Amino acid sequence: MKKKSSYKNLVLIKHPLVERDITILRDKKTKSEIFRSAVTRISNVLAVEISNAFSISEFKVDTPLEKTKGFRLKQEIVLIPVLRAGLAMVDGFLQLIPDAKLGHIGLERNEITLLPNSYYFKTPKNLSKSEVILLDPMLATGGSASAAISVLKKRGAKDFVFACLLAAPEGVKKLLKDHPDVIIFSAALDRQINKKGYILPGLGDAGDRTFGTL
Ligand code: PRP
Ligand code: URA
Repeated sequence: MKKKSSYKNLVLIKHPLVERDITILRDKKTKSEIFRSAVTRISNVLAVEISNAFSISEFKVDTPLEKTKGFRLKQEIVLIPVLRAGLAMVDGFLQLIPDAKLGHIGLERNEITLLPNSYYFKTPKNLSKSEVILLDPMLATGGSASAAISVLKKRGAKDFVFACLLAAPEGVKKLLKDHPDVIIFSAALDRQINKKGYILPGLGDAGDRTFGTL
């Protein structure tokens, strides 16, 4: 299900269902409700791939018949969607990791400078002991993801994965340069960003398409 990429620390997901769903997202005719359900399905697959590296611990469980070996996740998982568009990925992750905690980071790109402006931050305490999965569908210039991770590091977070749907080479390079310890999981690697900071071929504005604010 994973595809090698030319970037260290970028894992690309290769799966026929993901290819189909990315196409649904790219199609400008796709309505918000269909868009959201495709994001959820891709997020399911990302959650499976990312959680493959989680540690588990063994304990005894009583079946109705006898005792046997059981397993639980060792670490607490914290999902942190970047508002707004990252919210669309939350359901798909929670379906597979229902006991994950949630934090929220509000960032909005300035349309002229393309720099992220922070307007909200609330996360569970004790991030240093948690596996943090940052959720944002788009890695374009990389400014938002890099800023989000810098803030989380200041709050103590140590183990990061960044999960996105589409990544541009510019964003991958910036994020891995600013935070070489982060692993990026993406459903696709697109060609480039345009002058307005949009990913090409892309899917347009992920927040607007998710929430119908076009
Ligand atoms: C989008 C997206 C990312 C950011 C990516 O958010 O969800 O957070 O742009 O761009 P970057 O890599 O160049 O920083 P946007 O600022 O459009 O806000 P929204 O989710 O509220 O629409
Ligand atoms: N943010 C989006 O929503 N889309 C892009 O193509 C780039 C940044």
